[in-house]
Amino acid sequence: LFGAIDMAPRDPILGITEAFNADTNPAKINLGVGVYYDDNGKVPLLQCVQKAEAKLMEQLSPRTYLPIEGLAAYDKAVQELVFGADSAVIQEKRAVTVQAIGGTGALKIGADFLKRFSPDSQVFISDPSWENHRALFESAGFIVNNYTYYDPATHGVNFEGMLASLRKMDAGSIVVLHACCHNPTGADLTQEQWGQVIEAVQQGGLIPFLDMAYQGFGAGIAEDGAVVRRFVDAGGPLLVSNSFSKSFSLYGERVGALSVVASSGEEAARLLSQLKRVVRTNYSNPPLHGGKVVATVLSTPELRQLWEEELAGMRVRIKQMREELVEKLAAKAPGHDFAFVREQVGMFSYSGLTKEQVGKLRDESIYAVDTGRICVAALNSKNIDLVVDAIAKVL
Ligand code: LMR
Repeated sequence: LFGAIDMAPRDPILGITEAFNADTNPAKINLGVGVYYDDNGKVPLLQCVQKAEAKLMEQLSPRTYLPIEGLAAYDKAVQELVFGADSAVIQEKRAVTVQAIGGTGALKIGADFLKRFSPDSQVFISDPSWENHRALFESAGFIVNNYTYYDPATHGVNFEGMLASLRKMDAGSIVVLHACCHNPTGADLTQEQWGQVIEAVQQGGLIPFLDMAYQGFGAGIAEDGAVVRRFVDAGGPLLVSNSFSKSFSLYGERVGALSVVASSGEEAARLLSQLKRVVRTNYSNPPLHGGKVVATVLSTPELRQLWEEELAGMRVRIKQMREELVEKLAAKAPGHDFAFVREQVGMFSYSGLTKEQVGKLRDESIYAVDTGRICVAALNSKNIDLVVDAIAKVL
């Protein structure tokens, strides 16, 4: 049985971390995976998380199973964060939220759910998109296509191309959109462009699936979530996956959620019953700890305030790294214009480096994704000169 099984290729993102971990060079730098590191090159343990954990330690409780849909306080906090506490969909009980195993888990629950109830739909993801989107929707049984998105010539969005793609899709197609901080390009839509996208989605009878893994890393928590509210206001079905991996620096706890907006409270109850079936047949129910930490932070005013400050600190530091990268590259690699890095939003920069150049960086123990995506959030005041010198060399 097992003799004929081929070796699967390494994961395009997490496979880089595997190679990085195996590298014995003490000066190695991982710009591959989307993880925020502080200026000392460490993954931060946020103060708000530490305080929430201390609070939970004071009231130790048994580790029972969570409900299939997750911790009620967590699901409620997620809804308020994603839709806004005053959202009509919450008041009218039209939104259902299930706790998920990270943002990836949320996408998978959504994909399995959609495959069950819209089996003939095709899925459209941006060109390019997060490396795992295609594999994830294909493994749920969908045909996955690309819609036009990135224009390498301008390092921005080919918006006319994107609209043309949306207008060509059959009604009932599922369109996966990055709510903010586009992964991998860092090129986001303007508010005005979002308006046109929402209109095209509505007119085409498309099913929007918003992936929001980086809320708070663009312009701010409310600003980055604004697009979700605009989709809600426009009406129609909506799925939103979100993640606290990055915004709470809780990567390994796997805390995310899937929210679905229904047209009535009664419909929402039916959707929840079906989402629970998907969860139950995949992993039964979600883990306890991360959900408790996030729910505690979001529902305790001082901790929430602290979280917002800490998240703002991460956002500001990434922007500083963008500035420094642009300035240092201008000095070390004259003739190459990297000013676009300043305009990109979120953790990533689609640097324009070729696969071959990325390979040469790897020879210097600097790891990036083959597509040229680099994680700006992994740069710091100690490693940025090494990275700039290496990039200048491979150019
Ligand atoms: C990334 O894009 O690097 C992150 O979202 C981590 C992952 O799971 O791929």
